[in-house]
Formats: sequence, C-alpha cells, structure tokens
Amino acid sequence: MSVEDAKALDVGRMTELFKAHLNPGQLHFMKLLGFHRVKVERAEGMYYIDQNGRKILDFFGGFGSLAFGHNHPRILEARRRFQEEKRHEIAIAFMSQYAATLAHNLAQCSPGDLDMVFLGSSGSEVMEAAVKLAERAAGPKRPKIVYAENSFHGKTKGVLAVTDGKLYRGEFRLTDNTVRVPFGDSEAVENAFRTDPEIGAIVLETIQGGGGIIEADPAFWPALRVLCDRYGVIWVADEVQCGYGRTGRFYAFEHYGVVPDITALAKSLGTGKAAIGAMIARRDIYMRAYGTPKTAMIHAMATFGGTGEACITAIEGLNVLYDEALMENAETIGAYLIERLNALKEKYPRIIKDVRGRGCMVGLEFQDFSQTLPAVLRPMVAMLDDKLKGSLSGFVGALLLRDYDILVAFTEYNRNVIRLEPPLIVGREHVDTFADALDSLLSRGVVSIVRDFVKSQMD
Ligand SMILES: Cc1ncc(COP(=O)(O)O)c(C=O)c1O
Repeated sequence: MSVEDAKALDVGRMTELFKAHLNPGQLHFMKLLGFHRVKVERAEGMYYIDQNGRKILDFFGGFGSLAFGHNHPRILEARRRFQEEKRHEIAIAFMSQYAATLAHNLAQCSPGDLDMVFLGSSGSEVMEAAVKLAERAAGPKRPKIVYAENSFHGKTKGVLAVTDGKLYRGEFRLTDNTVRVPFGDSEAVENAFRTDPEIGAIVLETIQGGGGIIEADPAFWPALRVLCDRYGVIWVADEVQCGYGRTGRFYAFEHYGVVPDITALAKSLGTGKAAIGAMIARRDIYMRAYGTPKTAMIHAMATFGGTGEACITAIEGLNVLYDEALMENAETIGAYLIERLNALKEKYPRIIKDVRGRGCMVGLEFQDFSQTLPAVLRPMVAMLDDKLKGSLSGFVGALLLRDYDILVAFTEYNRNVIRLEPPLIVGREHVDTFADALDSLLSRGVVSIVRDFVKSQMD
C-alpha cells in the first residue's frame, strides 16, 4: 500500500488493519468511547476534522503534547524550510548545530544550574536517562531510588520500576532498588532518607498526571529540597506532562520556588510534530557521571537522539511559546476553565466531586457511583466493561464526543477523573463551548447519562 492508499482508507478498513496488525484489545476501549467511528482527515489549531467534516474540539491535547494545538503555521513553515534546504538529520558523527542550539535554549529556559542536556525521542527515554544519571552520580553505595504512590514515568522497563501502576508493572521482573512513599508526604520521605543510607535519588512528577491531576501541598517542595540537600539525595523532577508552560510557568516546580537536580521534558517539546524529549541536569551531577572521555559514551545520545528536524521543530516551538505568550495564556485561560468548572461543581454537587489543577492541566473528578447507581443499570454497565461500573468519566467522555464534538482524556489510575489538557492556545470561547456542553450533558442527570451511553453502544 502507498501513502495515498493510507490516506484514502475508510474507517472500516482502518479498523480491520488496526485489529490485524496493531492492537486488537485496544479496540474494545475505542468502541466504548466511540473513537472507532472517527477518521481524522485534518487537524488545525484547537480542532480535529473528521471524515464527515465534523470539527472536534480538542480538550485532550494528546495528554499534554499539543501546547501549540495542531499544525501551528510557524512550526510547519520551519519544518518545510528545513526539508527544502536538505539539512542533515542524524547527529552521531558530526556535531549538530540544531542539537547544540536546542540544548542552549533549554538551558536558558531552565533555572539554577540546570544546563546539561541529553536529547531522546520520548518521555520514557529521557526519564530512563534521568534515572540512570542519578544512579551513577549517587554512586554504587547509594543505589536506591525513592518513588511515589500513583506515579507514572513511562512504560519502558527501567522507569517501570518507579511507575506505580500495578497493571503496567504486570509480571515483569523489575529492578528492586526502589522504595515507595506516599506522594507529597515529607515525613515519609524524611523517614526513608534517615533510615536507609543506601537511598541516593528520588523521582517525582511535580504534578501527578496519570494519578488523576494530583498536586502536593506547596510546602512539600521546599521541604523536599532541604531534605535532599541534608541527606545528599538527588532529586529528579519529571516534567514530561506538567512542564513546558502547561501550568503557567515553564516548569511546574517554579511555582514552589525550588530547583531540582535533574528534570525531563518531552510531549509538547516536539510541538505535536516531532518525537523528542530532553533531560536537563545540573552540570556537576552530569560531570560526576559522564564527565570524562572514559565515561562520556556510557549514556550518550542514541541513534535518533537530537535529529535535525526534531531539534529545529523544538527550537521553533520554544520561540513560539515565548513570542505568543502561551504560558501567560495557559495561566489565565486555565484559571477561567477552573472557575467555570467550579460553578458546575456547585450546580451539580451530587455529580462532580472535585475540580483541581493549574493552568491547562485540570482534573475533573466525579462522585463514585459504584454503590449508588440505580440497580437496574448496574448489570447493563458491568456487561459493557467492568471498569465503567462506578465511573461517570467514561460515559461523560463518550457522550461529549458523540453529542457535543468534544474530546477529553482519562487518567491512568483514577477512573473517576477526566483529564483536561487543552493546547495552550486555548481561548475563552473554547472554554465556554466546553463548559456549556458539560452543563447541558450533566443536566440530563446520572440515570439518563448512563442510559444514553448504554444506548450509544447499541448503535
Ligand atoms: C509524567 C510522565 N512521564 C513520562 C511519560 C512517558 O512519556 P512517553 O509516553 O513519551 O514515553 C509520561 C507519558 O504520559 C508522563 O506523563
């Protein structure tokens, strides 16, 4: 099949190929949510446009990977020029002017001494790099790594050891040099550091995404910094999802006036067009681990680390982020989104349990209906999928797409939470469209929402 054949596939044939060659089990969830009916023909700004010309408002934002929305013109133009100029891509023999510039820009965007950069192709890869760097810099006498309950750092084997999802950890044999603590609990961290001198590093998302958009108490972070300094523990801040301006600051940790020892970005760094991630570390830590010719290649860039087009895409993205004041927009419009959702929480206190987050990283938690769903509906729902039993988020997400042309996301661990991570270009009008749609949907009441969902599965 050719590229033209690929573009021309209809939904039915696409489903067949997905089932035959990609992930048959995943289709189950796509069908529950109605995703299997959509073939995206184009994507622009805040919208996907499907095969029927339907515009779907994107409040999912690729789990935070679409800061600029879809196909931002300046980024398309930079990529087009780069291709026409026949620039070089692979950066493992000669140095790359693009990788060097991107590393410079990232160091400029980063506070404190965070100025050594490793480029990879995904969040998991740069988190692997971060954990390996921390482990090597801590030294062989301090190999243990603290991580948090409900954490998500990726699905590759190394970072799975610090990812808390039972499902994802599965029956894999993971490294056992880890210690788990509750998220945001400085006493538990201190206790671990004090009682186990083998601990050399701690890995935390600054705001937990997969856990259900969970923030620690602001006082936790300065306390963590003090503890890390006192016990000589290296702090790795995973900013793959919450970083890159999403919360109104370049890094979420900047809200708390602290600087970690190592951090990582991915997702929006690639602007939705390139697969790129970056680990950014304090120079002294980097040099301790890989600073000599003998150690320099232990964890140097992989084949596709810092490829030309990925780097220039990220460079242009960083410039657009500042030129268009998107962090400020994320803060202002995010606050408006939270304000509108809080008003809905007051209007529907028996449906909405909590609204939380910062900027364009917002969680909407529904009440748990596992015990209170009317008895007639329970077996119907359980038949469709066990996971949906007590959770409105699947029903609401599916109906927002079907009836209101809006796409939202879910979280890895908390099935009662809808995750809202719209592109940072989002405007008040988009928030109004979303909040009005949610209001209209919730006004149907829980029983009708569940019935409408169940009916949608019969169509
Ligand atoms: C906080 C965090 N870290 C790491 C990752 C892994 O990133 P990737 O999916 O690019 O491997 C994710 C992905 O969702 C994430 O949210």
